[in-house]
Amino acid sequence: MSHYSEDTRSILADLIESRRSLREYSRTPVSRAALEWIVACAQGPSGAGQRNAPSAHALYPLRLFAIINRLDDSSCPPGLYAFDGAHRRLGPRLGTTSPQALRATSLADDHWLEHAAVVLVVAADYPAARAHFADQQPDGLRGDRYAHIETGAVLQNLHLATQAQGLGGVIVAGFDDRRLVDTLALPDGLRSVALFCIGAPS
Ligand SMILES: Cc1cc2nc3c(=O)[nH]c(=O)nc-3n(C[C@H](O)[C@H](O)[C@H](O)COP(=O)(O)O)c2cc1C
Repeated sequence: MSHYSEDTRSILADLIESRRSLREYSRTPVSRAALEWIVACAQGPSGAGQRNAPSAHALYPLRLFAIINRLDDSSCPPGLYAFDGAHRRLGPRLGTTSPQALRATSLADDHWLEHAAVVLVVAADYPAARAHFADQQPDGLRGDRYAHIETGAVLQNLHLATQAQGLGGVIVAGFDDRRLVDTLALPDGLRSVALFCIGAPS
């Protein structure tokens, strides 16, 4: 374990204490480099096969996706994207997802789902998590609990990294599950756990 200097500890404390949810964004696009840095901080590889957020049994049942609305890279038109390189680089475009359709999944008409520059999707492979932890709990739902706890760690990393880039964000978990499944059409086995809107402060 490294021992960090007082300056470093103070920067970390400032970052944690100044973190607030941001729901109003300017029209400024988010830079691709900033987005990739944020995602790498949240869930990128580190150590010997581990990642930056903890995971029960180092199973890593979570995947991140990005719904791009405004990015500074013209080679990335709006749409739904995966991440490559174990969450270091923006990967292939999987399809179109309109910001309006995303907003329509909200249980509270959270308009920031439509106006954010990027909305990240934290998705879980629930079948894999349930199967892996089936011996810990007779109803098989231990895997769900662990995936949700891990999602919280990823979301806090996302929040702090976003703040460090001078951007802002907010978690949105109040969505209609069925509608979101239909809207995103994620790869097989994956279901959304939470969304994280990102944009420049207005
Ligand atoms: C599990 C969870 C779900 C949340 N869902 C929503 C949501 O659906 N819409 C929203 O605008 N904010 C949502 N939030 C953000 C909270 O409203 C916010 O964190 C809280 O008001 C405290 O404000 P702060 O983040 O600025 O400290 C959620 C936060 C958590 C932890």
